[in-house]
Amino acid sequence: MRAQEILAKKRDGGVLTEEEIRYFVNGVVRGEIPDYQAAAFLMAAYVRGLTEEETLALTLAMADSGEKLDLSSVPGFKMDKHSTGGVGDKLTLVVLPMVAAVGIPVAKLSGRALGHTGGTIDKLESIPGFRTNLTREEIVRQVEDIGLAVAEPGEEIVPADKIFYALRDVTATVDSKPLIVASILSKKLAGGADGFVFDVKAGSGAFMPTEEDARELATLLVRISKKLGKRATAILTNMIQPHGYEIGNANEVREAIEVLKGGGPDDVKGAAVRMAAEMALLAGKAETILEAVRLVDDTLASGAALEKFAEWVERQGGDPRVVDDYELLPQPEYEVIVGAEREGILMPPDARLIGEAVMLAGGGRRKKGDPIDHAAGVTLYYRGGSKIFRGDALARMVASQEIPDEAVEKLVQAFKVTEEDVTCIQTVIDVVR
Ligand code: URA
Repeated sequence: MRAQEILAKKRDGGVLTEEEIRYFVNGVVRGEIPDYQAAAFLMAAYVRGLTEEETLALTLAMADSGEKLDLSSVPGFKMDKHSTGGVGDKLTLVVLPMVAAVGIPVAKLSGRALGHTGGTIDKLESIPGFRTNLTREEIVRQVEDIGLAVAEPGEEIVPADKIFYALRDVTATVDSKPLIVASILSKKLAGGADGFVFDVKAGSGAFMPTEEDARELATLLVRISKKLGKRATAILTNMIQPHGYEIGNANEVREAIEVLKGGGPDDVKGAAVRMAAEMALLAGKAETILEAVRLVDDTLASGAALEKFAEWVERQGGDPRVVDDYELLPQPEYEVIVGAEREGILMPPDARLIGEAVMLAGGGRRKKGDPIDHAAGVTLYYRGGSKIFRGDALARMVASQEIPDEAVEKLVQAFKVTEEDVTCIQTVIDVVR
């Protein structure tokens, strides 16, 4: 078998065999197939598409390219959650303790902020002392002990994805659904869970700007997961405006804790309950979705989810007193208030622009490896549909360093006022099973 033959077959619209795909992926990871051939493969796959069988084979070959978490010592049905990324998306911080509190073990490998989107690892690291570089053994032991662990994947987890993703980024081949599915699912497989709930976001702040694209991606994620022998559900959520009122690392930790205390914004709470309930349903903890909703909702009312969150923080080296004392989180020194220039109904504040504003203020990364200011963030005072008056404060932006003008300009651009009614914006759009 030769790489050129595989490339020619895909270029001409042929369907690759599992053997050919595995040969190619292994060759790339071992350095026997150079980057320029890997890039050509990605472009051919992008242009010609991949069948479901090819996507499945690519997912498996990528998952097998490195080490995996072995959760077999953990009793019960293990669940994982994956978000395609958004702005103000603190759902993992709320959902995981809820699910763990009803006895569903969760091990999750999470990412960092990049571009306008946030990352769970950075959010957790805004809690003083919180360690995210757990070894695979530490993750498994922690899930055995407290039912929950979140860590950054080490270099040994799906090395094929690291190579392919970097090449996709520079060859305009990121937004191919089969390539996205193989990238996400190979990492989920390496995470060792039995079932997945995917949060696929649609809107300006998401990877998939339209609901149609998000639905196609959600459907493919669920179909390929099932072919892999996993239980899976995808929830489509709206990312036209950010989730909740808080965007930025420490800001989002605060808002997530408020939800765990039974308060917080309705949209975050509603989406978190739905996500946790879908996980409970897949894990067999309830017969119907209503029963599952009651079960997980009770973890908020009883304080069990908050208690689990504090236990989790402490176990990963963080200061659990943070749940009662937000002053323990990084405190900003600079602030800017953005005000309304005219009266009207507020359009949904643009998620992408707000994400970019937070990034420019230091709360995110332009490129991988950039340092981050955990205190930088935005608090929205209003969301879409609110009646506002000239001079109303619309948002507060904070940071540890002086806030650059370009960050303020982005934030200002995120707010538009209209004379017309703004229809109610649902957070959960649909569920794909
Ligand atoms: N998230 C991933 O992990 N991979 C992709 O390709 C896109 C989003």
